[in-house]
Amino acid sequence: MSVQKIQIFDTTLRDGEQVPGCKLNTQEKLVIAKQLELLGVDVIEAGFPISSPGDFEAVKAIAKQTKESTVCGLSRAVENDIRTAAEALKGARQPRIHTGIGTSDLHVRYKLRTTREEVMARAVEAVKLAKSFVEDVEFYAEDAGRTDNEFLARICELAVKAGATVLNIPDTTGYCLPEEYGAKIKYLYENVKGIEKVCLSTHCHNDLGLATANSIAGVVNGARQIECTINGVGERAGNTALEEVVMILRQHPYLNLTTGVNSKLLTETSTLVSHMMRMPVQPNKAIVGANAFSHSSGIHQDGVIKHRETYEIIDPRDVGVDSSSIVLTARSGRAALAYRLQKLGYNFDKETLDKAYGSFLQVADEKKEVRDNDLHVLVEKQNLVTAG
Ligand code: KIV
Ligand code: ZN
Repeated sequence: MSVQKIQIFDTTLRDGEQVPGCKLNTQEKLVIAKQLELLGVDVIEAGFPISSPGDFEAVKAIAKQTKESTVCGLSRAVENDIRTAAEALKGARQPRIHTGIGTSDLHVRYKLRTTREEVMARAVEAVKLAKSFVEDVEFYAEDAGRTDNEFLARICELAVKAGATVLNIPDTTGYCLPEEYGAKIKYLYENVKGIEKVCLSTHCHNDLGLATANSIAGVVNGARQIECTINGVGERAGNTALEEVVMILRQHPYLNLTTGVNSKLLTETSTLVSHMMRMPVQPNKAIVGANAFSHSSGIHQDGVIKHRETYEIIDPRDVGVDSSSIVLTARSGRAALAYRLQKLGYNFDKETLDKAYGSFLQVADEKKEVRDNDLHVLVEKQNLVTAG
């Protein structure tokens, strides 16, 4: 089976930026968009142009600046939204309008206060209008995760007929289980006429911590685009984390799915977004957290020193981290202490190392982490002599 490319659609600047306190100005958005292009994302969702004059300007500026990636603007299935998105995207080499409407009964009945028939009619009108401005039109069925599959297939089919090139199936509330979401994608793949002409897209939220798992279930079942954000930022519990899906596909080559992302730029991109959004990354965050490649317990340190792969499934250099780190704590063993002392130029025989280890544990019990300077002081205080 040939390797298939999964399109990476980054929505850090639209869905990701909806986090309270993370508002970015146009200059900051331009810097992040440049980095996303360098990273190799296929689509940059630059914003929601109708939402504010600032967002309109930002989308316009990103559209002008971007050369390789498609630039996308969001709109509801509302005429003025679509016209405004089209206007903001005018300067883009590869523009995409992303338009859509709620499809679950909850959205149809309580948010839109209308009927399924009316929703279908609005969806068709929206796609047709967007298509009159740009070739590339993505249709989203909001709350598709809680929409019954039969109705979802009907509205998707209408969107394809109206000219949609991409069908976005959002699990807007992060409700689905991976099997359920994967089955939904498979159902659409098998039941929407004309589906072979378009690309199915995942868009998963993380309310139950399943966004990444659901996105992977989606592509395993036929989706060919993943919508995601750097560091998984986004409203409530966030979106699918770009760095996670990229590395999952990379670390599991038998899936025969790949992306165009340069993984070596993942860490610096994460740091940039975290800094600009003033949104710290949790230390234990997969792939880009400060502790993702650091080992602190004795058993793990001993293993990693003997062979890195005993406790690491990713070479840190593949995500732009120079090396894994051995953090010295009260849980560290002699092997880790000897390893660090050697790096500092101290080669002790067994007896001296035992002595050093006793003193080290006392220091480690007082401090959370024993640093190189603490080791120099320890060696001097104890008058420890290097062997040979
Ligand atoms: O989560 C969602 O449903 C969305 C759509 C607007 C695409 O972000
Ligand atoms: Zn979303």
